[in-house]
Amino acid sequence: MKHMNIGILGMGTVATGLMTLLSDNKEIIERKSETEFQVTKVLVKDMNKKREVPLQQEVFTSKIEDIIDNEEIHLVVELIGGIHPAYEFVKKALKNGKHVVTANKALIATYGEELEGIADENGVYLRYEASVAGGIPIINTLKNSVESNEIKEIMGIVNGTTNYILTQMSERGLEFEEALKEAQDLGFAEADPSSDIDGDDAMYKIAILSYVAFGQPMHVDKICKEGITRISKEDIQYAKELGYTIKLVATARKEDHHLEMMVYPALLPMKHPIALAQNEYNAVVIKGNGLDDIMLYGKGAGALPTGSSVLNDMIEIAKNLRDQKKVYNRVKTQDPLLVDNKGHRQYYIRLDVIDKPGVMGQLTKIFGEHGIGLVSVSQLKRSEMVAPLVFITYETDQKMMKEVLCDIKKYSEVLKIASILAVES
Ligand code: HSE
Repeated sequence: MKHMNIGILGMGTVATGLMTLLSDNKEIIERKSETEFQVTKVLVKDMNKKREVPLQQEVFTSKIEDIIDNEEIHLVVELIGGIHPAYEFVKKALKNGKHVVTANKALIATYGEELEGIADENGVYLRYEASVAGGIPIINTLKNSVESNEIKEIMGIVNGTTNYILTQMSERGLEFEEALKEAQDLGFAEADPSSDIDGDDAMYKIAILSYVAFGQPMHVDKICKEGITRISKEDIQYAKELGYTIKLVATARKEDHHLEMMVYPALLPMKHPIALAQNEYNAVVIKGNGLDDIMLYGKGAGALPTGSSVLNDMIEIAKNLRDQKKVYNRVKTQDPLLVDNKGHRQYYIRLDVIDKPGVMGQLTKIFGEHGIGLVSVSQLKRSEMVAPLVFITYETDQKMMKEVLCDIKKYSEVLKIASILAVES
């Protein structure tokens, strides 16, 4: 049996899950990896905090050098999150010849390629399965299980917090703020939930998935991103009446030499495979030219699911070392694609209009004049003299949409463009 000493940076939720699995699944892990993992040091901020993990007090340290400069440590698990100082710690650990496993999507989406290069130069592994979609083995699947295919598209719900909020708004008619508060009380959402609700978390994740699937640089800055803060319970209700559910969707689509990467709230038909992911669950569809569609589904956050992904990476590294495999981290790059977000899509447009004869007809005419076809037009329950109208368009480009909205705004019977959302089929 080989022996591997582990240093863990951070002892929060994921690290606690990892410790539980290391103990509960010890026999399975050792049988499969032929390696005994020993947690020898853990970096924490507060040395006095009481922790429910089976570790002696002397294992804890507040000095990073005790781990990254410690010659006895073979593998560092980075679970402190955020870009700095995680970047400096991981870089130094790799340079010091230590393998690194991280769950840090912001770090990998920003510095992943550089860090993989450093890992390759130093003959050590850098793995980050837990950085995307918690317990779902999406990165390994893209790297190792769909290599026979040209990947055309990845589309997923990759943020559990926003999915929990949207599910509760839909099922219980909660307002956004109420559902967010509940998510925080239950520990799904952070005290500062901005990274989740503004779409940054999903943006980092789709950048990593695009890199792995398409061999393109991680273009976080080129991702068109929108969160869920402007989704109202009215939109969720109207979408439901029309047979849709609203989800925060992350997509990366390759078409010819173009790559489109977006994070946006969208209407999905209720029966869309990823629409089935409720609450903190995630789902990701991979479209390949031979596979057609496959979907991975599971918990996108939480101690044990995310801890499982971290541990899987550790086991893979141990097995590779056992089998004396050549160390290779970098994803093989493909010809550069032009990253843009000009793709055609369907839209849901909700307007508040004055409720009088001819208004719906006039608006339908405006869409027609701009060459935009309509899949459906519906008038929802009116209040006073205001009627909400919902238009669902056929696929159209963004320029045509901007032009039609400009003309709609000029029409005096339109009180407000209440919302515009993408529709996926
Ligand atoms: N905050 C993330 C989510 C989990 O809500 O999905 C960690 O990536």
